[in-house]
Amino acid sequence: MTDAKQAHETGLRRTFAIISHPDAGKTTITEKMLLFGNAIQMAGSVKSKRDDRHATSDWMKMEQERGISVTTSVMQFPYGGRIVNLLDTPGHADFSEDTYRTLTAVDSALMVIDGAKGVEDRTIKLMEVCRLRTTPILTFINKMDRDIRDPIEVMDEVEEVLKIKCAPMTWPIGMGRHFKGVYHLYDDVIHLYKQGQGNRIPEDNRIEGLDNPEVDEVLGEDAAEELRMEVELVRGASYTFDHDAYLRGELSPVYFGTAMGNFGVREMMDGFVEYAPSPQPRDTNLRTVEAEDGSFSGFVFKIQANMDPNHRDRVAFLRVCSGKYERHMKMRHVRIGKDVKIADALTFMASDRAHVEEAWPGDIIGLHNHGTIQIGDTFTQGENMRFTGIPHFAPELFKRVRLTDPMKLKSLQKGLQQLSEEGATQVFMPLDNNDLILGVVGVLQFDVVAHRLKQEYKVDCIYEGINVQTARWIECDDPKMLEDFKRKASANLAIDGGGHLTYIAPTRVNLQMTQERWPNVKFHHTREH
Ligand code: G4P
Repeated sequence: MTDAKQAHETGLRRTFAIISHPDAGKTTITEKMLLFGNAIQMAGSVKSKRDDRHATSDWMKMEQERGISVTTSVMQFPYGGRIVNLLDTPGHADFSEDTYRTLTAVDSALMVIDGAKGVEDRTIKLMEVCRLRTTPILTFINKMDRDIRDPIEVMDEVEEVLKIKCAPMTWPIGMGRHFKGVYHLYDDVIHLYKQGQGNRIPEDNRIEGLDNPEVDEVLGEDAAEELRMEVELVRGASYTFDHDAYLRGELSPVYFGTAMGNFGVREMMDGFVEYAPSPQPRDTNLRTVEAEDGSFSGFVFKIQANMDPNHRDRVAFLRVCSGKYERHMKMRHVRIGKDVKIADALTFMASDRAHVEEAWPGDIIGLHNHGTIQIGDTFTQGENMRFTGIPHFAPELFKRVRLTDPMKLKSLQKGLQQLSEEGATQVFMPLDNNDLILGVVGVLQFDVVAHRLKQEYKVDCIYEGINVQTARWIECDDPKMLEDFKRKASANLAIDGGGHLTYIAPTRVNLQMTQERWPNVKFHHTREH
């Protein structure tokens, strides 16, 4: 069943996340987007990143501020007649699986690149995750007010390292102290840069047409001529924008600007709302769900502890995939097979956390969770289907957990089980001994787990280093071979929190050699929830 209202509301939504390396300008550009979305009055009013850029030891303080971070993890604002949902991906020390999973809940991503630094590690990793679902990527090359690298060189690097074609949409005029603005290659308009407009919506000083004599007046004849030649060169040497190739994740439209100077951002956002996909179909174990389907469905991609650690109350972030959420509606919690009435879901209008009356595909709602909701859970209007493709990623950091009080083993096991269901960490129990090994993607997760074990499960634990570098989930169609493998490799095998057989490799070389020795055993880098 599809009705016009459903199709209309769905068509308005643009749900995305920013992928970038720390310090590329994600926080700054987020702030400018909120400014354009009239969600804040003046830049600087968003919680400063300084509070966010906590060292590991600041986590306790962060816990108290959780209420705030819950609201900033999803921001909804109107722009250009559309409704934009921006999902925050923790980008600093607290980089974790949350970041990865958030990317499963978006329809596209904005890649922010520091023009001086080019493609950096974190971006490469996040891009790999986007690839798993062929997420369309729009690129913003930032910090044009500085002396960056040659823009063509930066685009070449994006193409080479990230294996995606670049189609410049705007082209920078100069850089650093000589940054004059951008030329829109498709609108044939020059937007002139003026310093000092960073914390408000800047005026749009434009010159229509590259051949307009005004260009010579403003830039000077030589510079104008140089620009014309450069534009011709760029048009000839780079890809032309192809909307379908963008939607297939093969080509990225590229915009230039300075987030700090709030310049080039408007052109990028205009392009974003025009070209970025509206809510996309999602696969379940039974069928593909179209966003326009009338029956409500969604999945949980993130769980976050709420303000008050004394109440086991957490917020489960659910991405609406089809239908409409209405207050007081009944939903089927598919995994536990129960119908539950949801009276008070949260919505995330920019920095204001309010109770939501209705939500449409692409929107994120927050469900109060008293321990019954896990990452990956599906909610429907009665259909017993399950969304697929919400992965666990192989952790990269490992530690052995040791109790200070051995009598607390049961509490520790229970705590770790629950924290791993929630996605705060992954637990591995070796086949050959009684160790408990924690695996995480971001180092801050270790502190979070220790803190929560103490607060919520009254367990004190300490971590010890362990010789594990990476993990792979094991699958083998041949039961006899699997048994053989289990016997011979038992020293490196463990069961994870979900009961899955895992190979924990002391080194990458060891992993590689084992894979070569067992060509018919599959070593998976991700596992589905
Ligand atoms: P992140 O969230 O991706 O980590 O980056 P963030 O926006 O916090 O930006 C990192 C640093 O880069 C900040 O400087 C920020 O001001 C600066 N920055 C962001 N965009 C631009 C830009 O377009 N041009 C220039 N020149 N700088 C930019 P900081 O010194 O670390 O902090 P702050 O004191 O400026 O806040």
